[in-house]
Amino acid sequence: MKPDSQIEFFGLVELYHEGRLGKPLVKSYVELLSELSNRIYNLEDTYKRLVDIATEGRYNETVLWAVRERQVVGTAQATLLNIATPKVYVNEVVVTETLRKSGIGHDLMSLLLARIEAKWPQARRIELTSSPKRNTRSFYERLGFQTRETDVYSMKL
Ligand SMILES: CC(C)(COP(=O)(O)OP(=O)(O)OC[C@H]1O[C@@H](n2cnc3c(N)ncnc32)[C@H](O)[C@@H]1OP(=O)(O)O)[C@@H](O)C(=O)NCCC(=O)NCCS
Repeated sequence: MKPDSQIEFFGLVELYHEGRLGKPLVKSYVELLSELSNRIYNLEDTYKRLVDIATEGRYNETVLWAVRERQVVGTAQATLLNIATPKVYVNEVVVTETLRKSGIGHDLMSLLLARIEAKWPQARRIELTSSPKRNTRSFYERLGFQTRETDVYSMKL
């Protein structure tokens, strides 16, 4: 597939301040997230949380969206853990299935990495985990990530 010239990339905060963070856009974001996991996201709660992030700046989060025809078709997000050793976790990276393998994911992640460096210069490391079933190794390696021998522990709440 050819690179899609109708795709535009936005940070959540810019979109909010331009008055473009409407519920239809957030609905498409919630639908996109459901391609990543079986979890059902509540539209109202998600909208409120996004507005909180955009307005109050109390979360150490960066949320990027790829938008096409007023729909969120890709997203990537980063969170700064700013305690003893500042590090950044990247998660919720997803491109809608019909538009995959056209470079949107790479462009989104490149933009996210640039913003992480600019926003959080104190961070020493960026981490993310991905299930081997997802076959994302070459995608992340091309962006500069290296796999680490590590056990990942997780607990359901
Ligand atoms: C992982 C994911 C975000 C990648 O998004 P994407 O937009 O498909 O990413 P890109 O198009 O930039 O790259 C994907 C592949 O397409 C290839 N590609 C990119 N542009 C291409 C083009 N024009 N023609 C053919 N192939 C192309 C890339 O080389 C890359 O191959 P690789 O994975 O072997 O490195 C997407 O596959 C996805 O949402 N997967 C499901 C959710 C998921 O697994 N998320 C990661 C959780 S950690």
